[in-house]
Amino acid sequence: MATTGDGQAGDGTAGDGQAGDGRPSGGGVGRVGMIGGTGPAGRALALRLAAAGLEVDLGSRSAERAEQVAAELRERWPGRDLAVRGAANRDAAMADIVVLATPFEAAAETAAGLADELAGRVVVSMVNALTRVGRELHALVPALGSVAATVQSVLPRSEVAAAFQHLPARHLGDLHHELVADVLVCASSPRSASSTAALVEAVPGLRAVHAGSLASAGPVEALTAVLVNVNIAYRSHVAVRLEGLRAAGAGAP
Ligand SMILES: NC(=O)c1ccc[n+]([C@@H]2O[C@H](COP(=O)([O-])OP(=O)(O)OC[C@H]3O[C@@H](n4cnc5c(N)ncnc54)[C@H](OP(=O)(O)O)[C@@H]3O)[C@@H](O)[C@H]2O)c1
Repeated sequence: MATTGDGQAGDGTAGDGQAGDGRPSGGGVGRVGMIGGTGPAGRALALRLAAAGLEVDLGSRSAERAEQVAAELRERWPGRDLAVRGAANRDAAMADIVVLATPFEAAAETAAGLADELAGRVVVSMVNALTRVGRELHALVPALGSVAATVQSVLPRSEVAAAFQHLPARHLGDLHHELVADVLVCASSPRSASSTAALVEAVPGLRAVHAGSLASAGPVEALTAVLVNVNIAYRSHVAVRLEGLRAAGAGAP
């Protein structure tokens, strides 16, 4: 694993989020729903996805608050033509692919309450279970091993994947910041793996790396605490980058 800095966005085996004419294409992912999209993480990922050409329903328990946040994003980045709009979580849950971005304490309950809307859909958890102890962040281990596995347990009719946990909202939410990072994708099914990888790679600078089933989601979520502690120790902003992959991306393995 390495920090960012090589300036390369993937190995060319998957889309780089650009259409042939150089404009964002969105990669055929479809409409994205963001549950809990008003927080720093959800709004930042919504921004990146919209900047990549995707249509995003930024969700909240309050549709009014969601539209306020969506409007803030559109106003902050004029000229980007961001297709992001506010929605109630229940409506955002009916998008083509849905990202869960609530605090970990609320993830399972929120997902369970939307089980009917989320049935048949791919649900991507970016949730980390962390707690602060002094200056450090510590990872908590949910009974089922990960937040993503817990969410899958309450969504038996959905296909859950885990991704995006390591990307700091500060970087995601600044379109002037060039992203260069690998996103580890753990998934419950081939469909959720490929759809999530395509979502990742819709964002220029992000490379999807298939990291196994949801059995691996716990260590991936826990690594977030380690990365934050590295950042505290070195006053840095590290990102995950795996060396030595022969082929990675939405099309592999
Ligand atoms: N912050 C980061 O840099 C970062 C990066 C990667 C991953 N993550 C993960 O992404 C998730 C969201 O992070 P965040 O910092 O954006 O969190 P947050 O601000 O604490 O929460 C996000 C949103 O979740 C909703 N929410 C809060 N409490 C809720 C509850 N009890 N029930 C249902 N919805 C609730 C709120 O939206 P409404 O009130 O509008 O409904 C809130 O704006 C976390 O699990 C975090 O570990 C964070």
